[in-house]
This record gives sequence, structure tokens and C-alpha cells, in this order.
Amino acid sequence: MPQNNKEIIINLKNLTKRFGSFTAVSNFNLEIRKGEIIGLLGPNGAGKTTTMKMIARLLNPDEGEIWIKDNGNLELLTGKNMVTLLDHIGFLIENPTFYEHMTPRKILSYFAILKGYPKKKIPKRIEEVLALVGLTDWIDKKVGTFSKGMKQKLGVVSALIHDPDILILDEPQTGLDPKARRETREMFLKLKNQGKTIFLSSHLLYEVSEISDRIAIINQGKLIAFDTMKNLEMASKDIKLQIQLMELPVDIEKKRVELEEIILPYTGLKLKSKIVSFNPELKIFEARFNGELTNQRKILEELTKKEIDIVNFSVPRANALEDLYIQLIAGVATEEVAEPQAIIKGDRGD
Ligand SMILES: Nc1ncnc2c1ncn2[C@@H]1O[C@H](COP(=O)(O)OP(=O)(O)OP(=O)(O)O)[C@@H](O)[C@H]1O
Ligand SMILES: [Mg+2]
Repeated sequence: MPQNNKEIIINLKNLTKRFGSFTAVSNFNLEIRKGEIIGLLGPNGAGKTTTMKMIARLLNPDEGEIWIKDNGNLELLTGKNMVTLLDHIGFLIENPTFYEHMTPRKILSYFAILKGYPKKKIPKRIEEVLALVGLTDWIDKKVGTFSKGMKQKLGVVSALIHDPDILILDEPQTGLDPKARRETREMFLKLKNQGKTIFLSSHLLYEVSEISDRIAIINQGKLIAFDTMKNLEMASKDIKLQIQLMELPVDIEKKRVELEEIILPYTGLKLKSKIVSFNPELKIFEARFNGELTNQRKILEELTKKEIDIVNFSVPRANALEDLYIQLIAGVATEEVAEPQAIIKGDRGD
């Protein structure tokens, strides 16, 4: 697809990293297009940080290639051109550590100078980026007095101080409270709107599903899925639909059976039962279906026709991703669940 190729800004080809006899990242392929937010998900030890460290050249790959766009062309990253190529990228890898006695103004000017940002523009740029994360009033305070979340925010802005085209952020939202997470989420979207490309790793499935154009899932060093949220959901073919009734029925099991009979023909799944269950924690019914919107609409239509008193009917996004994530990581591949291979590198739907 030449059109898409033009847009590729980072291309990881067969990246492999071994530590002794242990392979931390294995034949990892990923194409990142300009202007995308890519979320990298995977359990502890999956190889997320190792992958990012290889792009930053903090680690040398044992095999494979990293291509980065420079002046309109993809260039192979080598020891010789790393300074030029990596100037296009802002990195935050693992927990940022700063000298406790330094202030954000000093730290950020140091990074800006290091990255060759025009000297005259540095003071204004520092104010700009600190405002992005609400640290304006802390510009001259010692980092030693900062909370964990504030240090994390400073880490994120130190990655973007030189206004790079690409941001590679390893768990940028770790340690942030919900308000700060929302603020950083909004910041990432703002940066995307400015044309920036963002590759971020996370354990926060909701955060990732909300902002990512495509999601890459890595497990035991291998890329096991890479697609849009929508396609991943569809491919997983086993999506939870939440149904909340006006009133909790007296006989829950009877209602469950009734709902199951109505929904069963429209799930798109091969299952003949166990489609509907009751979630006692949320006090709602949950129905499984294949995630297709036409089926979702049909189910709603049938429930309404049968005068089921629904007050809420939805597919919770985070749950869908969490279910899929667990399915993929566990390597489950039943009849109802797509083979992970089938959803790698989809170009569908975008
Ligand atoms: N320098 C090293 N020497 C030996 N093994 C390493 C080294 N760095 C990473 N590893 C191993 O490589 C694997 C991948 O580690 P990595 O830090 O990339 O995982 P991760 O996906 O970032 O995990 P987390 O979510 O916990 O941050 C782990 O098993 C880890 O122990
Ligand atoms: Mg890590």
C-alpha cells in the first residue's frame, strides 16, 4: 500500500533482543504512521521497555532494523546517524530521575540545549510545556519537593521540550491521579492534533483505548496483535453487552433465561447457551455477542419489542479491551475467539 507507506514515520523490522540465552524481544515488527497514537500494551516483562530502549539506542538490537523518517525519507538507524535521527523523537523511558536540587527551569533548559532547540526560544518554550501539565507555579521550585506525579509530569514534558515530531513514552501515566491522567490524555490528543506521532506503553487499558488509533499487544517479546480498537473488538468476536433493567427482577434466573431466549439468535456466536449472565456486583445482565453493530442493534430491537424495561444498554470499551487482552495473553483460541494471528497488522477500517 504505497499511500500508507508514505506516511510511515517509524518502521521496526524483525527487532530482536536477547539477554544471554533469554529472548526479551523477538522478531518484533511495527509500522507507525505520522500523526497516529499507538498504544503498546503487555504484561510485566513482555518487552515494552526493551523495545523502546532499542529505538532510543539505549540498547542495541541483536537482530532487526529501526527506520526513522528524516527529511521525507525513512533512514536506517545506525551509530553514525543516531544523533540526527533521534532528534526527531522525544523519549520518556522508565521512571524519570532528576537531581533533587534542580528546578524545572534548569532541567528543561538543559534538555532543550542538549537537543539543539533554538536558545532564544527556550524560556518561552519552558513556560509553554509547564503550562501544559499545570506546573507553571513550580518552575523555580526544587524537584526534591515534588510529588511522584509531578516528577512524572516533568518527565513527560522533558520529552517534548524540543518540540519533536515523535514522542516515545514508556508508561507516561504511571503514578498520576485520575485528574492528571485525564489532563495528560487531553494533552496527547492536543499533540496529535498538532500532527505529532505518539508511541506510548501502558498498563492502563482504559487510557490507551480512549486515545490510541491503533493498539499493539506484546507478550513474551512477541507482537500478538496490532490493529484499531474497533477491529480488535470485532476480531475478538466475544464482546460483553451490558443490559441494565429499570428494576431488579425478583426471580433473576427466570429473567436471565428470558433474556437469553430473546438474544440468542442475534449474537453471531456459535454458542447455544451461557450467552446471558447476571453480574451481581453491578446488578446488571451481561450478554455475549460478536461485537457487530448490526447484531447489537437487532438485540436492542428485539428486547424493546418484547417490552423488556431497559434503562441502559452498552458495550463498555475498557471491558472489551480488558477481555480481549486477557484472551490474547492467555493464548485462548476457542472457536468463538479469533486466532491472535488473524488480527495482526490489520489495515482494515482506517
Ligand atoms: N538488562 C537486562 N538484563 C537481563 N534481562 C533484562 C534486562 N532488561 C530487561 N530484561 C528482561 O527482559 C524482559 C522484558 O523486560 P522489559 O523491561 O522490556 O518488560 P516490560 O514489558 O517493560 O515490563 P513492565 O511492564 O514490567 O515494565 C524481562 O523478562 C526482563 O527481566
Ligand atoms: Mg517496562
